[in-house]
Amino acid sequence: MTLQFAPENNAAIPVTLIASASLDDCLSDLPSAQGAWARATGFSGGYGKTCILPGPEGTIARVLIGIGDEVARKKHRFGPGAAIAGLPSGIYALDGTVYQTDAEEIGLGYLLSCYRFDRYKDNPPAKAMFVAPKGLNARRLEIIAEGEALTRDLINTPTSDMGPAELEAAARDLAERHGADISVVTGEALLEQNFPLVHAVGRASASAPRLIEMLWGNAGPSVTLVGKGVCFDTGGLNLKPGASMGLMKKDMGGSAAVLGLAHMIMALGLKMRLRILIPAVENSVSGNAFRPGDILTARNGATVEINNTDAEGRLVLADALALGAEGNPDLMVSMATLTGAARVAVGPDLAPFYTDDEGVAASLTSAAAMTADPVWRLPFHDPYDDMIEPGIADLDNAPKGGFAGSITAALFLRRFAPVNRYLHFDMYGWQPTSKPARPKGGVGQGTRALLEALEKGMLA
Ligand code: BES
Ligand code: MN
Ligand code: ZN
Repeated sequence: MTLQFAPENNAAIPVTLIASASLDDCLSDLPSAQGAWARATGFSGGYGKTCILPGPEGTIARVLIGIGDEVARKKHRFGPGAAIAGLPSGIYALDGTVYQTDAEEIGLGYLLSCYRFDRYKDNPPAKAMFVAPKGLNARRLEIIAEGEALTRDLINTPTSDMGPAELEAAARDLAERHGADISVVTGEALLEQNFPLVHAVGRASASAPRLIEMLWGNAGPSVTLVGKGVCFDTGGLNLKPGASMGLMKKDMGGSAAVLGLAHMIMALGLKMRLRILIPAVENSVSGNAFRPGDILTARNGATVEINNTDAEGRLVLADALALGAEGNPDLMVSMATLTGAARVAVGPDLAPFYTDDEGVAASLTSAAAMTADPVWRLPFHDPYDDMIEPGIADLDNAPKGGFAGSITAALFLRRFAPVNRYLHFDMYGWQPTSKPARPKGGVGQGTRALLEALEKGMLA
């Protein structure tokens, strides 16, 4: 999906941003009839509120958009940009000066509000066109929005059209678009090439499991992005109850985020050697499904006791991370809808992340604030390592008791990621209710923050 700004246009309808505190000053600067209209209609400058000012011939003379106060701006994001996208048909442009970060959030808010998922039913596009705020790198924002749209499309598409084979096809499309190399190991070949856990988790599905690898770029730091590609998670033999299974088409959200981020990196031409690894499987139920109690040997030789077939994400990621670590990248990142515990801890807006690298944590945290892409650090708490060690194998995929479920899952992954800098996101990947620029449905998390951090030299 292309999400774009309107070209520069001298006749664009001016849009004035108004903070609640400066409402009176701003309104008294307007022609008196317009100021009176704004007052008469009760416009307060409230966050994301709109007031359309009529011109003499029944045209739109100007639009006022409220940016509220500090409290509202802390509480919400993308409101003004979304308000612009919701305006009547026409071309609009910001009037006056806006700080760079605000302009970015408004521009991105506009673009992301133009996203539509219309594969199965018409969903009419936004009518308002918006000229990119001055001083912005408009193309960069468009690329970021395109990457996010790709992530959303991949998550929103149900498993009937986004199984492992279709996820592979989507990765191939992206690779072709950017001249990246791609290779895929499928089905029984996973055993020959030593991806036993990917095979074990995915073998019960009608769509064969696979390990997708994409390579791009030949200079700069090496960055490996690993995304959980569980196209549907029934829970396996430890079957999920219906209510918990309902949304599990989104269990490939990590791979969708990684592909969206890869699009941003490649389209922007960042100087890096990028490697994408996606174990793509469906965690299904059949006579050949892996079972509770099975002990499986991972790619790196570690034995894993299966105590719950619903803790499948960490298994497929284990093999992919082990492969990634063999290349000794400067940074390895995993993104995964890994645990219900993460959702319980921080809810759907925040992407919890784990890293032992203070520099990575600090640059990610400040980049998150810049990009309205909130993340929150959780600890790789070493003492809990004991919890993932059962009696008769090296590792337990589902520690009993359920204490610190997101942390123990992260610790499990870390065993397979012996690299210089490892960063892991336990994301939710789903917007439960519509918010400005984030319609209900699939959503990327952490990707814009990570892109910003990489651009700002996180690895320098
Ligand atoms: N895909 C789920 C995690 C999930 C559930 C993410 C709901 C977002 C919303 C994952 O495969 C899973 O089932 N994890 C289990 C692990 C447990 C069995 C140790 C969980 O979190 O309950
Ligand atoms: Mn599961
Ligand atoms: Zn899962």
